[in-house]
Amino acid sequence: MSESQLWNDVDDYFTTLLAPSDDILTAALRDSDAAGLPPINVAPNQGKLLQLLAQLQGARRVLEIGTLGGYSTIWLGRALPADGHLITFEYDPGHAEVARGNLARAGLDKISEVRVGAALESLAKLADEDPEPYDLVFIDADKVNNPHYVEWALKLTRPGSLIIVDNVVRGGAVTDPDSTDPSVRGTRAALELISTHPKLSGTAVQTVGSKGYDGFALARVLP
Ligand code: SAH
Ligand code: DHB
Ligand code: MG
Repeated sequence: MSESQLWNDVDDYFTTLLAPSDDILTAALRDSDAAGLPPINVAPNQGKLLQLLAQLQGARRVLEIGTLGGYSTIWLGRALPADGHLITFEYDPGHAEVARGNLARAGLDKISEVRVGAALESLAKLADEDPEPYDLVFIDADKVNNPHYVEWALKLTRPGSLIIVDNVVRGGAVTDPDSTDPSVRGTRAALELISTHPKLSGTAVQTVGSKGYDGFALARVLP
């Protein structure tokens, strides 16, 4: 058996047991696929991890950067109370339209908002609105901007908030200090920022599974 087949089998086992799909999640992936969106959503067990982390945070307000079809958004949204709020930023209007449909089907349209545009611009506009701090920020868009997204996340959160950065391993490419890949450089810069910033305490974890070999970083905002 190949290594990746083994990873898939273990993910299937964990997911069936601990993060089973339901009609709403299945339909979200089906409609995303039918609309031609790439299958780069988080895996089900990773979505469940996002939900658990949001619940452990006692999160009432979540910010997501990179919506795609709203699959991770549904997991995060389900962690929120009825008066919670979730904003998710998406560059591609087609992706955003699919996500809005998926969020409505999930009954999350009342507490969630998909904002279309380049996230750096959407973040600046959001900051102008002087919002209440976000309890959790999930960064999962264009990796080249990851350090900027971490900086914005710091501005829009409070001590105790959690910042999560997806896809920090990308098959191991992250260890190359001379990489010319803008995504790798962006992610390395974000990790260095987490390591040096006086208001952040973080770590990073490698993952294997149905989405290949990758990982995520977690950072807590300090007082
Ligand atoms: N969080 C999703 C996956 C997001 S994939 C999930 O796990 O289900 C990354 C998304 O970021 C894509 O939909 C892509 O269109 C979007 N994106 C890329 N560059 C962006 C930018 N500059 N601003 C906002 N969204 C961007
Ligand atoms: C890609 C982006 C993601 O957010 C992800 O989880 C996997 C892959 C990509 O751009 O290839
Ligand atoms: Mg991702």
